[in-house]
Amino acid sequence: MKTINSEILIIGSGGAGLRTAIELHDNNKDVLVVGKCKKREAHTVLATGGINAALGNMDKKDSWELHAADTIRDGGLLNDSNAVVLLCKNAPAAVKELSKWGTKFHKEKSGKLTQRFFGAAIYRRACFVGDVTGKAILNTLVNQVQKRKIRFKSETYIFSLLHSTGKVNGALGLDLNSGKIIKFQSKIVVLATGGHSRMFGRSSSGFWENNGDGIYLAKKVGARFMDMELFQFHPTGMVYPKKAAGILVTEAVRGEGGILTNSNGQRFMEKYDSERMELSARDIVARANYMEIKNGKGTKHRGVWLDISHKSKSYIKKRLPRMYRQFKEYANIDISKQKMEVGPTAHYSMGGILIDHKTGKTDVKNLFAIGEVTSGVHGGNRLGGNSLAEITVFGKLTGQSILKELKKTNQTPIDDSLVKKEQIAFLKTSNSKKGKNPIKAKEELQVMMWKHLGVIRNAKGMKKALKQLEKFKKMKLKVNGSLKMNEQLIAALDFQNMLPTCEMIIKSALFRKESRAAHYRSDYKITESKWK
Ligand code: FUM
Repeated sequence: MKTINSEILIIGSGGAGLRTAIELHDNNKDVLVVGKCKKREAHTVLATGGINAALGNMDKKDSWELHAADTIRDGGLLNDSNAVVLLCKNAPAAVKELSKWGTKFHKEKSGKLTQRFFGAAIYRRACFVGDVTGKAILNTLVNQVQKRKIRFKSETYIFSLLHSTGKVNGALGLDLNSGKIIKFQSKIVVLATGGHSRMFGRSSSGFWENNGDGIYLAKKVGARFMDMELFQFHPTGMVYPKKAAGILVTEAVRGEGGILTNSNGQRFMEKYDSERMELSARDIVARANYMEIKNGKGTKHRGVWLDISHKSKSYIKKRLPRMYRQFKEYANIDISKQKMEVGPTAHYSMGGILIDHKTGKTDVKNLFAIGEVTSGVHGGNRLGGNSLAEITVFGKLTGQSILKELKKTNQTPIDDSLVKKEQIAFLKTSNSKKGKNPIKAKEELQVMMWKHLGVIRNAKGMKKALKQLEKFKKMKLKVNGSLKMNEQLIAALDFQNMLPTCEMIIKSALFRKESRAAHYRSDYKITESKWK
C-alpha cells in the first residue's frame, strides 16, 4: 500500500479546506488536500447568490453587529454567539482578500462592491458575482492553491480515519482512478467534508456529494455532535422536469425582486410574514411554500410560482445568468417572460461535529473540522450568504490555530493492525455477492427521510423512520466489479456514511419537543424557552 505523508491532511477540497490549506502553506507548513471530486467541482460551486459582509457599501448603517443580530435572530437564538462574532467581524476582510486574489465581484460605478438583499438581512449585505458566487470563489481559491503549488489529490474517497493512543494520525482512502488504497499519514487531520443534504430525496447538492462522510468518519473516532435535528430546507428548488427536481433556484431571485404566488395568483407571503414577504427567513418561506402546496394551492408539478419577469432580460442575464440558463436548458422556460415553478429542497446542515470555533478543534486529539460538517455558527437556520463567509473566515482562523497546535504535536506511529482491520472491512464492502443494489438502497433511504424528517415533522412519522432505519442498517448490499470509478461501490460507501447521520437526525428531532427555526413539528408547534 502506498503511503503519502504530510504534516497536515485536509479532507475536502471545497472552499473551507482550500482556505485552511493556504493559511498553513503561507506559514511554511507541509499540507495536503484530498478531495472526492474533481479539482474545481466541490460543492462550494453550488453556493450561488452571494457572500455576506457588512461593508456598508449600499446601506451605510450596516455593521458587523447588525449582521450578527440578523444571524442570531433568525438562527432561532441557538447560535454559538462567539462564533457569530468571529464570522461577522472577519467577513469584510475575507471578502476584500478574495477580491484582491481575483474574485470578480460585481462593482458599482464608484468601484465599490455592489451588495444585494438576501433573506432575513435588514440591509443589502451580500456581495456577488452574478449568481455564480461560489464558483467564482472556489476558482479563486484553486488558483491560489495552484500558484503556491500546494499538494492536492482529487478523486480520492476517504473511508477511514487512522488513530493510535487516542490521537488521529492519518486516513485510508481509495484512489477512484487507479482503484488503489492509499494510506495517508499526518500529524493533524482536518475534516472539511461538507454537509449532509443528500440524506433527503430532494436536495440542492450533487448526487455524489453531502452524504455525511465527515460525520461517519468523526463518529467512528469518538467525536461529539450537536444540533443534528436542525436542517435547512431552501424554499426554492426546481420541481420540474423530474431530472432537475431539487436544483437550487437562488435566493438572489427574490433578492432582486422576485415574487412568490400560488395557483390562485395570491402573493401568499403576506399571510406568513407581511413585513419581510419573500425575503423572510428561509425556514419561514420554505414552510410557506410547503403549506401552499399541501393545501392544494400548488402548481401542476407541486410547486409555487416565482416570478422575476418584471425585470428586463438584460438585467436578468447580468444579475442571474445561471438561473436564466438553468430554466432554459432544463424546462425551456425564459424567466424574463415566464414564471418559474419552485418548491422546497434540502439545502444545508446546521448540525454537525461539535467544535470550538476559536480553534476548529473537535473533541478528538489532532482532529480539526471546519465548514458545513460542523455545528454552531448558524444555530437553527442559516442565513443565505453566510456559508461562503463561514468557510473563508474560519478557513483562515482554523489554519492559524493549527499552526499553534503543531508546535506541540508529533507524528504518532500508525497502528498497522487498525490499517489491516479497516482494509479488510473495506474489501468486504467492495465485494459482496448478494444483496440490494446500493444505488437503490440509497434512494430508498433518501425518500424515507424526505417523507418523515422533511419540512414538517411529527412523532408518528419520526418513530416510523427510526423503525425503518433499523431495516436499512441490516440491509445487505451487492457490490462487484473493479475498484476503479465503480458507481455501486461509491453508493455503498455513501450508504454506510449516511446511516449514522440519519440516526442522529431522527433521534435529535424526536428529542426536541418544540418547533424552532428550521425544526418544525406539527405535534409541538410552539417555540419554548426551556428548549433554547
Ligand atoms: O439561494 C442561494 O443562493 C443560496 C445561498 C446560500 O445558501 O448561501
